[in-house]
This record gives sequence, C-alpha cells and structure tokens, in this order.
Amino acid sequence: MRMVDLIEKKRNGLALTKEEIQFIIEEYTNDVIPDYQMSALLMAIFYEDMTDEEITNLTLAMANSGEIIDLRSIEGVKVDKHSTGGVGDTTTLILAPLVASVGAPVAKMSGRGLGYTGGTLDKLESIPGFKVEISDEEFIETVNKSNVAVIGQSGDLAPADKKLYALRDVTATVDSIPLIASSIMSKKIAAGANAIVLDVTTGDGAFMKSLEDAKRLAHTMVRIGALADRQTMAVISDMSQPLGEAIGNSLEVVEAIETLKGNGPEDLVEMCYVLGSQMVVLAKKAKTLDEARAMLKEALTSGKALDKFREMIQNQGGDTRVIDQPEMILTAQYSYELPAKSAGVVTKLVANEIGIAAMMLGAGRKTKEDAIDHAVGLKLHKKIGETISEGESLLTIYSNTKEIEAVKELLYENIEIGVSAQEPKLIHDIITE
Ligand code: URA
Ligand code: CA
Repeated sequence: MRMVDLIEKKRNGLALTKEEIQFIIEEYTNDVIPDYQMSALLMAIFYEDMTDEEITNLTLAMANSGEIIDLRSIEGVKVDKHSTGGVGDTTTLILAPLVASVGAPVAKMSGRGLGYTGGTLDKLESIPGFKVEISDEEFIETVNKSNVAVIGQSGDLAPADKKLYALRDVTATVDSIPLIASSIMSKKIAAGANAIVLDVTTGDGAFMKSLEDAKRLAHTMVRIGALADRQTMAVISDMSQPLGEAIGNSLEVVEAIETLKGNGPEDLVEMCYVLGSQMVVLAKKAKTLDEARAMLKEALTSGKALDKFREMIQNQGGDTRVIDQPEMILTAQYSYELPAKSAGVVTKLVANEIGIAAMMLGAGRKTKEDAIDHAVGLKLHKKIGETISEGESLLTIYSNTKEIEAVKELLYENIEIGVSAQEPKLIHDIITE
C-alpha cells in the first residue's frame, strides 16, 4: 500500500477500507508516514468526510495504537463521562464524587485545557498536593476502595490520537466531525469504561457552533460506542455562555465545593443532575432517571457527595482543608470589578471570547508548553436574561497583574446589554441511538 494512493482515493471522495485505515494509523504512529502526507489526508477527510464504517474503523485503529486499560478488576459497571469542551465547565469535579457517592464507580481519565477551553487536570492541580499522575495499579486500587479517582491519561493511551491531535491543531483540521468523533471515542474506548455519557456542547464556546452539527457529532459517537460494545449516550448542552459563574482553575474548584455544599449556580447544578442521572442509570444503580436524580439530590443535601470529594482529595495526596476553607486557594493579588456601562438585560456573554479573556489573565494555555496561573480568572455576577443597573458589576476579574486593560476591553466587546433576552435552553437534546 502507498500512502499517496490512499490520499488520492480520499481526495476523490471514495471510502477507505478497514485495512487501509489500519495501515495508515499504524504507519503514522510508528513515524513511517510523514506529517506532510498525513496533513494532506486530514484535509481530504475534512472536505470529503467519512462514512460511519470508516469512522468506526478509524476509531478502533486509533484505540488499538496503544494500551487498552483493563478495568475488569473493578466491580460493577464503570461509567465514564466526557465533554467535547467548554468554558467554565466544572461538571467533572462535581460529578465524580457525586456519582461515586451513590455507589457507581467512577474511574476517570481527564485532560488539560488548551486555548479557551479548560481542563479538569489543571483545575484539580489547584488543590495543593493533588496528584493526577498515578500508576494504573494504584488507580484501580483507589477506585476499588473509594469508588472514585480522576487522573491524567497514561502516556500510552491512544498515541495515534496524541500525534494526530497536535497535527490537526496546526493544519486547521480540528473541527471535522469524523476527526473529533474518532479522537474522543478512541480515548474513551482505550480508557476501559463499560458505559459512556457524552456531553456534546454547542454554541460560541464549543467546537460545534450549530445545533445541527452537534447532533450529527453526537449520533456518530453514540453509534461508534455501540459498535465497540460500550453503552453510549449523549446530552447536547448549551455553551453559548459559560457554565456556572466561575472561569479559572482555583475559582472553579471553589465553585465545585460550593455546589457540593448545596450552594451551586442553578445551571451548573441542573447540568450535573442531567449528566449524573444518566451515569447512575447506565451504572445500573437506579432504574429510572427520576430515581437517579432523587438519589443525587439526597447525596448533595446530606453532605455525602462532599464527603466523597474530601476522600478523593485525601486519596490523591491533596490538602483536604480546602473543603472547609476554600478561600485558601483564591490567592490572586488583585481583583477588579467590571461595571455595566448601561442599565438593561444581559443579552450576550460570548463563551469562547470570555474564555480567551480568562486565558489572557493566565488561566489557560495558548500552546501546550505554556505554564498556567491557577489563581486567576473571572467570576460572573450576571448571566443572560438577568437585569443589571448602570455601574453595577457584571463580573469580578482575579488577576496577578495590574495590566488588565486588554482583558477588560475584550470582555466589554463580548458582553451585550439590551432590552430583553430569553435565558438560553440548557439542554438541547438527548441522543441515545
Ligand atoms: N476533544 C478531543 O479529545 N478531540 C477532539 O478532536 C476534540 C475535542
Ligand atoms: Ca463554572
């Protein structure tokens, strides 16, 4: 087989066979196929798309490019949850202990943030001492003991995706449905869970800007999951404005703790109930979504979920004092309010641009090598649909520099105040097949 012929075949709009796809992934992972040929193929896929069969074969080839984690020694149905990316999305920090506290094992591998999207590992590392790199054995032992562990992806998990993702990032081929679906599902399949809850975001702050594309991505991933024998469902959620109120690593850990104490922002709490109920039902700990939701509510109000978070922090070497004194990690030197320039109703809070503002403060990375500042970020005081008077604070900026003029300007450009606005729908659809 010659790569050049396969590029031509895809360029001409034909489907690649299973053997051809396996050849490409193996040879690319082993550095035999060079980046320039792979780039050409990625661009051909971007324009010519792939059939369901091709996407499934691509996903399985990528999953098989490295280690497949075996979670069989953990009893019960292991449920994973994955979001396609968002701004201020604190759900994993809440869901892991919450779902574990009602008896469903959560063995979760998470990622880091890039660009305007945040990453669970960065958030967890704002807790002093918290370790996200532990061995597979210790990971399994911890889940067996406490029902929960959230760690970084091991180095050999879907190495084809690692290489491909870096290449897509610099060749304008990230936002392609077959490439996103195979990237996410290859990692989920290799990470070993039996069931998968996908949070497919849509809106300005998401890869899929339109609802139609989000639905297609969701259907594609659910189908791949079923073919790989993993029970998979997707929630299509809104990411036109940031989720909750906090954006930034320490700020989001504090938001998660407050939510586990029963004081979370309404949209974030609802999102956790929707995703969490699906996880609990897939894990067979409840028969219906209503029953699951009632269990989760009880775990939140009784403090059981918060205790589970404390246990998770303790297990992974973190300082558990953060639970009772969350302020201890809010160490930004300066804070500034952003006053509304006029009175009215908030009509727009453009999620990706607000994520970029947080990144400019140091909360996120422009490139994979950048260091981040865990303490900085934003805390929204108003969301879409809320009224505000002139001079009232829209949000607080937490910063370690006094030079925040560019950040303020970007925020003003992306927050609109008008006459009236509908609160955006939080859940757009639920896809089960
Ligand atoms: N997240 C991933 O892991 N891969 C993508 O391609 C997009 C989002
Ligand atoms: Ca948030």
